[in-house]
Amino acid sequence: MAQVSLKNVSKIFPGGIKAVDNISLGVENREFMVLVGPSGCGKSTTLRMIAGLEEITSGDIYIGDKRVNDIPAKDRDIAMVFQNYALYPHMTVFENMAFGLKLKRYPKHEIIQRVDEAAEILGIKNLLNRKPRELSGGERQRVAVGRAIVRRPLVFLFDEPLSNLDAKLRVQMRTEIHKLHIRLQTTIIYVTHDQVEAMTMGDRIAVMKDGVIQQVADPITIYDRPANKFVAGFIGSPPMNFMSGRIIKKNSKFYFDEGRIKVKLVESMFETIAPYEGKEIIFGIRSEDIYDKLFVSEVAPENIVRVTCEVYEPLGSEVYLYLNTGKHSFVARVGAHDRPKVGEDMELVFDMSKAHFFDKDTEKTIV
Ligand SMILES: Nc1ncnc2c1ncn2[C@@H]1O[C@H](COP(=O)(O)OP(=O)(O)O)[C@@H](O)[C@H]1O
Ligand SMILES: [Mg+2]
Repeated sequence: MAQVSLKNVSKIFPGGIKAVDNISLGVENREFMVLVGPSGCGKSTTLRMIAGLEEITSGDIYIGDKRVNDIPAKDRDIAMVFQNYALYPHMTVFENMAFGLKLKRYPKHEIIQRVDEAAEILGIKNLLNRKPRELSGGERQRVAVGRAIVRRPLVFLFDEPLSNLDAKLRVQMRTEIHKLHIRLQTTIIYVTHDQVEAMTMGDRIAVMKDGVIQQVADPITIYDRPANKFVAGFIGSPPMNFMSGRIIKKNSKFYFDEGRIKVKLVESMFETIAPYEGKEIIFGIRSEDIYDKLFVSEVAPENIVRVTCEVYEPLGSEVYLYLNTGKHSFVARVGAHDRPKVGEDMELVFDMSKAHFFDKDTEKTIV
């Protein structure tokens, strides 16, 4: 068991591409840490530096309390599962899983016992004599995980292990990896571009953009209190709605004025927002914090907005409304039976206690 820590780690590739820019991150013993961010933000490079597959340009990496910068990959006691599985096509499942142990000259009975145990955990005992080409995508994925498990590493590193699977299998494997973590009680660092995987699997999530960590926190904190506009927009589906406008003050109350719509802030935000009076600001609200006025009793009139409904999508369990203020499009998630008139104006209610505001220049969260 081990904690992993990165201290001011950077990676500059030949040609000057700064893939990872001075990141510091502490992963606790037995923690499931997810690194999430859009393609190209430096997730794989970070993972590969932890694994020892990529040299570190500057900074330090520790596994346990050992600085591993100069320790070769094979001696780092970690196991990595890749997106493309990287199974040996000419070997059986058993041989694929046993390969690493054989290289390390483990005794035969120990190898058999470990492979057997891992195959049992993953439900692939019946596949041990097959070759990779005789397996489905999900089965290959299990073998790749099995090959990591048999090594009983201090730390598991997963690089987008589910992205080659179809949607249904991905959901299933997501749960299985989650259960595996509970069973193995090992430190896991898991890389994905999929915010749903990040939210559902991580004890904590590190959100990355352009080689920089934007925020590290548990999933609910990331969702409810994003550190900046990027995190707010990246995590959550549909993404958070953003509108630009001004903060105005009237009768000692603060309002967000978009041009067409104007809503009153909740009093608890007044003090923080006061310095922004008269200034341009970015307002954010999640789709589930917008309601159709028809279905809300007792609404403060300042929170009602009139906008055009352009499209609605009934999803069975809920309805997505695509709305337009004339300046901004946004989405509301409302009750399953809501059927507004398309092309006409409708009244909505914003739950302003859930509103977010971001600085227009820095895009950092104000409140
Ligand atoms: N071997 C390499 N040589 C040069 N640039 C690279 C190399 N590997 C990755 N990069 C660049 O570094 C950045 C981060 O890549 P990567 O870590 O693979 O991102 P992610 O895994 O988040 O998609 C990208 O701009 C990518 O093009
Ligand atoms: Mg990658």
